Amino acid sequence: MKDMRSISFKKGKLFYLDQTKLPLVEKWQECSSIAQGYRIIKLLKIRGAPLIGVFAAYCLAVSAEKFAAKKDLFLKQATYAISHLKASRPTAVNLFWALDRMQAVLTNNPDKDTDSLKKLLLKQAALIHSEDVALCKNMGRFGVSLIRPGDRILTHCNTGFLATSGNGTALSVIYEANKKYKDIEVFIDETRPLLQGARLTAWELCRKKVPCRLITDNMSAYCMQQGLIDKVFLGADRITANGDVANKIGTYSVAVLAKYHKIPFYVVAPFSSFDLNLNSPGSLPIEQRNPDEIRKVFNRVYIAPRNVKSYNPAFDVTPGELITAIVTDKGIIYPPFNKNIPKILEK
Ligand code: MRU
Repeated sequence: MKDMRSISFKKGKLFYLDQTKLPLVEKWQECSSIAQGYRIIKLLKIRGAPLIGVFAAYCLAVSAEKFAAKKDLFLKQATYAISHLKASRPTAVNLFWALDRMQAVLTNNPDKDTDSLKKLLLKQAALIHSEDVALCKNMGRFGVSLIRPGDRILTHCNTGFLATSGNGTALSVIYEANKKYKDIEVFIDETRPLLQGARLTAWELCRKKVPCRLITDNMSAYCMQQGLIDKVFLGADRITANGDVANKIGTYSVAVLAKYHKIPFYVVAPFSSFDLNLNSPGSLPIEQRNPDEIRKVFNRVYIAPRNVKSYNPAFDVTPGELITAIVTDKGIIYPPFNKNIPKILEK
């Protein structure tokens, strides 16, 4: 069977599928240092909120093998490594959540020597990994109850096994639905500028044999107007206590369109994507990326004058009032989100 994973940890080594090469080439590479890990995340060779967290945790654990044997120097190197990895991408809170768990291993074991700390870091990374696989299963299990036979579902960006270390967030729901009802169909936004929909989601769904159609981002309004879309399912990079959702740029437009056309709009995310310290749309950190990503098609061919100014926010914020419900690994959360988010997440 073809590989349906995004990372693998074998015999003390961390490997990842380079997503910038998909769908043309399936190339697995090794990551063995913090400098490599930073670049791999920054350049989107691995991406997707939950996967970034799992990958960063493993990256720290494998890199720690080369840190100094002397405890104070080891701790200094580990602290620098954690802050450097955290600086790679600002929006997905899962990165910070996973690295804070790794930091806690160091902080909570002051009496351990460096060899024991290395083992504990590895154990924690493996735990974060196996938990992520389980979270994906639970989101799929809860979310499938929202789907009916024959549903035509619009999705945005990539939220599947390439964005997590399990089956995905929104795509986990879609995979469950596809097992249950053979007649669902997925409409995939291509997701400019980096084309995660066209390159990654279309590749995943074809590989998983889920009926799907690729559309450009500016076709979703027309598809909704034509009655071709029954529901929207997509993921999240960070969710506030009020249910405001930072997700791939273009999510907000889809939410506004869904509201106008009275189409249910569902966000699917694990508890690790919530940031309950934040409670307003403006408080969500939005990553600004290289303007060349807009001037070129997928970082290769210029499609605009090289000297034209461009603006490239990688994420946008969808206010909670546009969201029908948030599917989590602990259950489905309906509005009012400020009351129901803490209630469900405390479970
Ligand atoms: O820039 P990316 O490709 O990392 O953005 C990914 C998304 O926006 C996903 O929708 C999100 O991480 C949630 S799904 C796992």
